[in-house]
Amino acid sequence: MTSATEVPSEPLASARRSCHCGELREANIGESVVLKGWLHRRRDLGGIIFIDLRDRTGLVQVRFNPGGDLPEDRYQAAHHLRSEYCLAIRGDVQKRPDGTENDKLDTGQVEVVVREFEVLSESKPLPFQVDEYDHTGEDIRLRYRFLDLRREEMQRNMLMRHKAYKATRDFLCGEGFLEFETPILTKATPEGARDFLVPSRLDPGKFYALPQSPQLFKQLLMISGYDRYFQIARCFRDEDLRANRQPEFTQIDVEMSFVTQDEVIDAMERLIAHIWKDCLGHELSLPVPRMTYADAMLKYGSDKPDLRFGCEIHDITKLFAKGCNFQVFNNLIKKGGVVRGFAFPGGGEKLSNTDLRPESKFSKRVTRETGIRAYAWFKVTEEGKLESNIAKFFEDDVLESLRNETGAQPGDVIFMVAHEHAKTCAEMTGRFRLLIGHTFELIDRDTFAFTWVVDFPAFEWNPEEKRWDVLHHPFTNIHDEDIPLLGTDRMSEVRSLAYDLALNGEELGGGSIRIHRQDVQSKVFSAIGISEEEAEEKFSFLLEALQYGAPPHGGLAFGFDRIVMLLTGEDSIRGVIPFPKTQTGLCPLTNAPGEAPPEQLKELGLKVTVKKKDPEGGSQV
Ligand code: AMO
Repeated sequence: MTSATEVPSEPLASARRSCHCGELREANIGESVVLKGWLHRRRDLGGIIFIDLRDRTGLVQVRFNPGGDLPEDRYQAAHHLRSEYCLAIRGDVQKRPDGTENDKLDTGQVEVVVREFEVLSESKPLPFQVDEYDHTGEDIRLRYRFLDLRREEMQRNMLMRHKAYKATRDFLCGEGFLEFETPILTKATPEGARDFLVPSRLDPGKFYALPQSPQLFKQLLMISGYDRYFQIARCFRDEDLRANRQPEFTQIDVEMSFVTQDEVIDAMERLIAHIWKDCLGHELSLPVPRMTYADAMLKYGSDKPDLRFGCEIHDITKLFAKGCNFQVFNNLIKKGGVVRGFAFPGGGEKLSNTDLRPESKFSKRVTRETGIRAYAWFKVTEEGKLESNIAKFFEDDVLESLRNETGAQPGDVIFMVAHEHAKTCAEMTGRFRLLIGHTFELIDRDTFAFTWVVDFPAFEWNPEEKRWDVLHHPFTNIHDEDIPLLGTDRMSEVRSLAYDLALNGEELGGGSIRIHRQDVQSKVFSAIGISEEEAEEKFSFLLEALQYGAPPHGGLAFGFDRIVMLLTGEDSIRGVIPFPKTQTGLCPLTNAPGEAPPEQLKELGLKVTVKKKDPEGGSQV
């Protein structure tokens, strides 16, 4: 705190601020102070005018007494002060009269009695009140983001963001990581999204791509021998936006040489523990548990499982091998399909048999949000019997095994989902589990449930394109023993050295040990259908660098915005980014993206053929 010392009388507008609004306490009583800030709230009580003066540190009550030290004309002028006027105030810190203290405010024991004030700048009438409890729509808040950012809640979020930057830098610098910047105008990075392109004026017809991540450059820095790199990096991805995705976002990007997967995981979970401790005072227990990708998909139907609640999913396909006359299951199982199920504790009371009918509001919502067309269910009676509209199709011992397998207790509901593709079934059941967890408030919102997900398959069959895709990026290393499987019909068995950190159902970060041998890199490219020419055109610099003594290396990137979102308890990363875009990629503040003037297009050798967006959503050409 700047100490609130006696301030000489000099012109108020240029006088140095003696302390911040939110810092004043009883210890300052009797001091003369100069404050600068915004008029947060104003109460005109006939004789006396009170305002709450606000700056970044908080609020303090300021009192304008008629008569006394404030000249009459200035007192009259104080009647014209309005919300969000920017003010300078000189006055004396006094104890608030007995009974008028405000225990909810840090400065609530004192007030500043004004001797002099100056309007530094007026404010137009506000589009919304700068008040924590104001529920203005997001569009208008983003249009006037400079006002929105004055709100206490936003200031708290921005402060948390700042703390998280600092904690990150403190930890990584302390561990011998060097901070670098890598190019923004660059070539494509294959992280699976579309690139944003920037046309080159000096080389018309050519384009830079904005980086989807600094992936290739951080690998080059390892090849250059810098050993440990980090960057709080801006990344750009032209992809469909959601609450946890923005077209430009920030990563904590890290790379390390001569390390194993365990060493990267160890350093990164200590980084996260440091951030949580610094920002929240919260002690995480390390090591963070690990789960294989196969287990995560089976038990939670997601590679970013939400472990804040149970409802663990079970594969129950084998239970229906005999003793089941339910043709839906039998037919799907015959086609190689699977049945997955989970128990919803206490669900019997929450969902009536009517709710569980296919045409009910609940069932329609399940279909809408999970893609499940129909689910099967059983209620467990107080006696432990399974009841349902389809119970007659199952023999008693099958129902008994179903109850044992899912661990269902009296009062629970067992849900079952069948599908011919195991992965689709897993994902749908996973979404169903989440819907139940959120709707019936099974989730403990005060918990941070971290888990590493490891042992990802390296490749995934893309049935539409009829080719193998990489699950992470194509520079991810694979287990040495699996190299011979590349390009064979056993591609699905190839395991990658990749790892993700999940927290409360969000993917917080992901990384891998990289390929550091050019021959393995070429084999991976060819296995996923990237020709030598294409690889040469896109990544020749990396392929070349790999031939000059590349060290074994690996790393990871955390989504910084997601970290701050989880630290603050916000439900969208837009709440923790100072100037975010809307869900449709627009910036209501600047009106970006905008059209380019014809001269600029000419200089760039570009011609726009898409005229304007038609109101139906398509584009007219
Ligand atoms: P990945 O693509 O998994 O890995 O990204 C790392 C983390 O970045 C965050 N993230 C996003 N956050 C907000 N908006 C987005 N559009 C967005 N996309 C990703 C997520 C994600 O876990 N180069 C690799 C990392 C590596 O291998 O070292 C990479 O970028 O939290």
